[in-house]
Amino acid sequence: MNIYAQRVPALSIVACCAAASACSSPKSTSGSISPKLMADALHAVMESDRTVYTKFVVNRLTKEEKVIEATEHWKDESTLPLPAQMFRMGAEMASAKQLGFTYSLLSKWPINKQNTPRTEVEKVGLDFVAEHKGENYYAEEVLGDAKYFTAVYADTAVAEACISCHNDHPDSPREDFVLNEVMGGVVIRIAR
Ligand code: HEC
Repeated sequence: MNIYAQRVPALSIVACCAAASACSSPKSTSGSISPKLMADALHAVMESDRTVYTKFVVNRLTKEEKVIEATEHWKDESTLPLPAQMFRMGAEMASAKQLGFTYSLLSKWPINKQNTPRTEVEKVGLDFVAEHKGENYYAEEVLGDAKYFTAVYADTAVAEACISCHNDHPDSPREDFVLNEVMGGVVIRIAR
């Protein structure tokens, strides 16, 4: 089944006044969450988890304390999963819930060629976030006969481990990433 075909359930929030006495106007109002706000909120969680895992698990244990490595074949080698693998495993679990959104981690300089941007919006969005630090890219996208709200966010080298691992990797097309550089982007797609 095409998960993109799923409609995003109408998200609505109801604002209630905690202290009724302080409210002279109606006790509750309702509004809905825009796709942009939903994407921004999802991304805030993803980015925070990714940074926490990379800084406080991978970077600390592999670079600072040097007690374990992070490798692609983490299951067989009893090492830590790579940050990108953590991200993808989460993305796969979340998309299996079929809530009308998917997300992925892409780059113009990918180690894994499957992470190459493919759609026009992905390509333009990745260029945009690399060139406009601190800004995100939003677009409406039509793929096949389905419509999406697509958001692209910069994925930044937040720890030494990001750049050393990519620069040293035999399949990496670049060896000159520097700290705080935009290395790629997170693409979030919400069905319309
Ligand atoms: C220990 C090695 C290692 C570390 C640390 C690491 N990466 Fe990666 N990264 C990889 C590998 C290997 C892949 C490809 C994994 C795959 O798709 O299966 C990857 C994938 C990616 C991708 C998707 C494009 C591509 O290269 O395939 C981005 C973007 C990325 N990493 C950015 C980062 C950032 C930013 C950090 C730090 C927050 C980081 N990486 C930390 C090894 C690493």
